[in-house]
Amino acid sequence: MSSNTVSYQTGFANHFATEAVAGALPVGRNSPQKPAMGLYAEQLSGTAFTAPRDHNFRSWLYRLRPSAQHGPYKPFDQGQVRSTPFNETPPNPNRMRWDPLPLPDQPTDWVEGLVTYGGNGCSESGAGVGIHLYVANRSMIDRVFYNADGEMLFVPQEGTHRFVTEMGVIEAKPGHMVVIPRGVRFRIELDAPIRGYICENYGAPFRLPDLGPIGANGLANPRDFETPVAWFEDVDHEVQCIQKYGGRLWATTFNHSPLDVVGWHGNYAPYRYDTARFNTIGTVSFDHPDPSIFTVLTSPSDTPGTANCDFVIFAPRWMVAEDTFRPPWFHRNVMSEFMGLITGAYDAKAGGFAPGGASLHNRMSGHGPDQASWQGATDADLKPHKIENTLAFMFETRMPIRTTKWAEETPLMQLDYDDCWTGFEKGKPE
Ligand SMILES: [Fe+2]
Repeated sequence: MSSNTVSYQTGFANHFATEAVAGALPVGRNSPQKPAMGLYAEQLSGTAFTAPRDHNFRSWLYRLRPSAQHGPYKPFDQGQVRSTPFNETPPNPNRMRWDPLPLPDQPTDWVEGLVTYGGNGCSESGAGVGIHLYVANRSMIDRVFYNADGEMLFVPQEGTHRFVTEMGVIEAKPGHMVVIPRGVRFRIELDAPIRGYICENYGAPFRLPDLGPIGANGLANPRDFETPVAWFEDVDHEVQCIQKYGGRLWATTFNHSPLDVVGWHGNYAPYRYDTARFNTIGTVSFDHPDPSIFTVLTSPSDTPGTANCDFVIFAPRWMVAEDTFRPPWFHRNVMSEFMGLITGAYDAKAGGFAPGGASLHNRMSGHGPDQASWQGATDADLKPHKIENTLAFMFETRMPIRTTKWAEETPLMQLDYDDCWTGFEKGKPE
């Protein structure tokens, strides 16, 4: 099998059935006494067995060897990976912005190039997020990774990523997003340097938001989500398996590749989505809706309408509102906002927010357009205008985000960020 074998089946969280070799899947049962071809049946549960049917995620895997066949895990070099409890630094209410994470000049694979910027919650109790960036310039070789603490939503910013997973191969470019469920093993291969962002979600798995009065269609449509077909490799040499568990990295060695699933069925699987397919909805009169209108996926919390995390995109779109300040307005938000930029320019900032960079506006911090953007939008002659060639995104989470020591001390931090909100003239009440 070649890792270039890439094929997808469509639908969000569908119950798929896929086999790389015809006849690998049993029919009418999950764990027959003797699975075909001498394969081993394994259930991978992403939710409690008893989770409601609509939110119950599990898949059955049929593999060359049991996943259990390995020695003990031992602590692995943590690098710049951090996790809950995020307590390296005291709570910090300041607005923060970072220059792009530089591409590496030393050979670096995806695990080695992971850097945690911050996070919140408690992975063990299933709440909160970790926020990471990564850079890499070489493929993971004889090394796979899985995350026991949370699912990972990848937002590629540079380069083609090839996610070779237990359940098939996903190729992703800037503009795609990819979710690797908790526990699914994978490696990342590349032909040129890559960079991107990760929302590590400790809470309820990401799902499509309800649409309410929007109706049955719009925003991210279910059929545009793509899940790989079964693919496996039959490799008998040593492969290192690194996992993130309890905030720590651990490693063990398999005497074979754990990417050996010949067939699988179920609804717990990695997927990708092309944000170019997002059906962006906005005003056709005045004002603009809250940015929740741009939600691609949501991880709900126990409080209705208050997300553990929303993944929100600011995609190309027409602006037609009359008598309206069209860019994002000034606001203070109980939710905390971590933003990244894939390409182009963001319409609330005239500069300083670069592709591969990031910004953080924590709970109740005042933010919004910088002075130049405010002036331009205030003076603009309002005509239909298309925002093009840009893609920004936001991880919006209900709990404040605590930054890591690295994120606060890196020279990438823009110490003059506050200055973009200077120079506003005072209002003149009559
Ligand atoms: Fe904001």
